[in-house]
Amino acid sequence: MPERAMIEVEDVSKRFGETPALAGVSLACPRASVLALLGPNGAGKTTLVRILTTLIRPDRGRATVAGFDVATEATPLRSVIGLAGQYAALDGLLTGRENLELIGLWYHLDKREYRRRAQEVLERLSLTDAGNRLVKTYSGGMRRRLDVGASLVGRPPVLFLDEPTTGLDPRTRNDLWQFLEELVEGGTTVLMTTQYMEEAERLAHRIVVLDTGRVIADGTAEQLKDLLGGDRLEARVTDSADLDRAAALLGELAGGPPHVDAEQRRVSVPTAGGTAFLLRAGLRFQEEQIRLDDLGIRRPSLDDVFLSLTGGHIRDAEEAA
Ligand SMILES: Nc1ncnc2c1ncn2[C@@H]1O[C@H](COP(=O)(O)OP(=O)(O)OP(=O)(O)O)[C@@H](O)[C@H]1O
Ligand SMILES: [Mg+2]
Repeated sequence: MPERAMIEVEDVSKRFGETPALAGVSLACPRASVLALLGPNGAGKTTLVRILTTLIRPDRGRATVAGFDVATEATPLRSVIGLAGQYAALDGLLTGRENLELIGLWYHLDKREYRRRAQEVLERLSLTDAGNRLVKTYSGGMRRRLDVGASLVGRPPVLFLDEPTTGLDPRTRNDLWQFLEELVEGGTTVLMTTQYMEEAERLAHRIVVLDTGRVIADGTAEQLKDLLGGDRLEARVTDSADLDRAAALLGELAGGPPHVDAEQRRVSVPTAGGTAFLLRAGLRFQEEQIRLDDLGIRRPSLDDVFLSLTGGHIRDAEEAA
């Protein structure tokens, strides 16, 4: 029997006055995995996180976390989750360490245990030096780290992280990724929102793209890239006069219509042929004496996918598919 997903969302909708923040969202996240929610500003990511952490109620639909219903079992649900919000809820007049210890108190940990966990979190998030300073003196990135740390003190089996690494420098971001990977290996389930494709690609087992309150794509990073039609062979001619010949040559080789970007002097065709196809194309260009500035296989990036799904390039994606 398949294990029940740790996070289950079925047809959830939420309006704020006239604004439909979520319009029939469904998703599932298995235990010990990371689900990344992507989407442009205002897509509904934070709204979904707030529903799943019982801060607000859905108007319609059903959602459970660790089997607890967000509407009818909020109290037990809260005991199994940690939340680091987009807007950090920390007490500026306490030190970083005190903020963490306070959370340990809420979890009814004894003094030795909450001190130990606060110390551990400070170390893991590179805040040991700052731990004894008042939070109001922290930089933005330090606050964010402490906020993520605060969600970890209770060692919850399910973590909700709303843009956990926004504004962090690359090294700190990397440290946090590593930490999260270790937690997930240890069985933690994570639902995170992010604006960073690199982050989704590195951490997420599954990516859900939201746009104006709807799921517009759902899959692994590779599956989302395949939406754009997979690999493309791309050539950039040295001389614009060769563009048409290059397009004809590649079209013939690939057996399909090439895409031509005259301004960039680029021609591309879909290919599943890998290096063999690249070599064949190179040889043909040489035979035809078409000079190239560049020739290579290009796999669409998650950024391409995101832009094509949510931006003004949806036509291109449809053409490619
Ligand atoms: N408390 C609220 N009152 C009124 N409207 C709200 C409220 N919270 C969110 N909204 C609206 O709901 C929509 C979704 O907002 P949400 O904060 O969930 O987006 P988001 O995907 O988290 O965006 P961002 O990337 O900017 O964080 C937006 O149109 C927003 O203006
Ligand atoms: Mg948000």
